[in-house]
Amino acid sequence: MAAGWAAAATVVALAASSSPLLAQDNGTVRSAGGMVSSQQWIASEVGAEVLARGGNAVDAAIATGFALAVTHPTAGNIGGGGFMVVRFPDGRTTSLDFREKAPLAAHPEMWLDEDGGYSSERHHNSHLAVGVPGTVAGFDKAHRLYGSADWVDLVQPSVDLAARGFELSEALAGSITRFANGRGSRYEASVATFTNAGEAYGAGETWRQPELARALERIRDEGRDGFYRGETARLITEEMRRGGGIITEEDLERYQARERTPIHGTYRGYDVISMPPPSSGGVAIVTMLNILEAFDLRTMGHNSPEYVHHVSEAMRRAFRDRARYLADVDFADVPVRKLTSKEHATWLRRDIDPERASISHPTDVAAPYESPETTHYSVVDADGMAVSVTYTLEYGYGSGIVVPGAGFLLNNEMGDFNAGPGLTNARGLIGTEANLARPEQRMLSSMSPSIVARDGELVAVVGTPGGRTIINTTLQLILNLIDFGMDVQEAVDAPRFHHQWLPDRIRIEGDGFAPGTVEALEALGHRVQAGGRQGSANSIGIDPVTGERIGAPDPRSADAGARGSDAPGGGR
Ligand code: DON
Repeated sequence: MAAGWAAAATVVALAASSSPLLAQDNGTVRSAGGMVSSQQWIASEVGAEVLARGGNAVDAAIATGFALAVTHPTAGNIGGGGFMVVRFPDGRTTSLDFREKAPLAAHPEMWLDEDGGYSSERHHNSHLAVGVPGTVAGFDKAHRLYGSADWVDLVQPSVDLAARGFELSEALAGSITRFANGRGSRYEASVATFTNAGEAYGAGETWRQPELARALERIRDEGRDGFYRGETARLITEEMRRGGGIITEEDLERYQARERTPIHGTYRGYDVISMPPPSSGGVAIVTMLNILEAFDLRTMGHNSPEYVHHVSEAMRRAFRDRARYLADVDFADVPVRKLTSKEHATWLRRDIDPERASISHPTDVAAPYESPETTHYSVVDADGMAVSVTYTLEYGYGSGIVVPGAGFLLNNEMGDFNAGPGLTNARGLIGTEANLARPEQRMLSSMSPSIVARDGELVAVVGTPGGRTIINTTLQLILNLIDFGMDVQEAVDAPRFHHQWLPDRIRIEGDGFAPGTVEALEALGHRVQAGGRQGSANSIGIDPVTGERIGAPDPRSADAGARGSDAPGGGR
């Protein structure tokens, strides 16, 4: 985990140059119409244009998602997977699960090498680490069920962006160059995609991705068949055979996105709607809110030692449940109703000592590494339909493998399965049963796209990347809005912290907490680690007075931006 945190800090620090947190223009955008807030402003613009042409929030979410696959390659994708939570203007809600799944030939011991030892390389950095992608099936299903615009119009802007190219920002030029020189250098097609014939791209240069453009054209013309069948499917399986992977034509053919009932919790009179398993996020967030409802957080003061202590104790308990119980519900019995009940929270709360940190007992589970690269975006349309999407390739640039001839990166999401039966150890491997790799099982996720409402009215659309920190960042966004009455940009900007049961420590954003906070927490018995930044929570709030949509991009991401459908060109 330390490695993950350090990597996250590096990525964000490089992306944001040397500017201290919150030193940038905050980029808030207001619109009386629709709004898109994402980690890459060009993609927000694509979504806002769909809204301006009369598309609904699902249409805009699909168009934004395809655009991020072109403009935000660390996490935007067609070769990965994710989740979409939707709230309709009449208050109904739904969610789409387009998480990757294990190929048919997967098995719990597939991460062991010839000598029977666990191989992190196989698990995270090989063709075996690639899960059957879900994004295109998810967008296709979302469009069939709830879209209103023509599919072609949702994909074409991304075809254009890939074919004609777009101007590289300093942050993106630096990021793709580091990737091409690093993990990407193992694969010819990755180097070809992310360099200019072997030369590093610089800021201000135009980056074209012709093979990706053709892959997107096939999706534009044939929908999901343009990815899971035909030329793209052939290119994926060819690369699998070449590199020792196991995804077959049958795996691609059989992939299905699923519509699932969202997790619904209540907190101080608000409704919180979030992602159900195979995400652990919705369950954990509702568990923590239920625990915290009994405490007067506002009186404690935002980010005071007392507040951080109580919230961390709630995090500790929810993450212990996560490790014990959560996995793909189609394969494991997950007691969702119990875990999200007020009674369970009362039981969890009983041993929170206001004066003393609890101790995490690594009885039979521990915490594996999770990478910091994923992306979250939020959409609200003029009618009040709200869409919250988090999707990912797992690591930044996923497996690092660009499909030759198709120009897109494959995920390494299989790394979210546990290491192998009985492999739990003190160094952080997990070997518990429920989340082992099995044919067609979906790997456990932390992604938590969420929506907050009150008295039937939309309040905010929130979420973030950040591996396991996703759950806690999303929790804090909700607490900032509800307990501290922050507006959505303040809620996004506010410094964050994270506790995940094991390792037993609180990580706080280094430059945001009042002097003395670390010492005060240490005096309560906590271990505290300061440094790095947590997440990129590109969110939208609704102005309670005017009803305007307030797009709040996260200042932690250099290229993030919000765009309103009636104010294109605004924001960062
Ligand atoms: O699904 C998950 O929880 C992880 N694969 C997400 C990875 C991630 O969030 C990286 N984020 N920035």
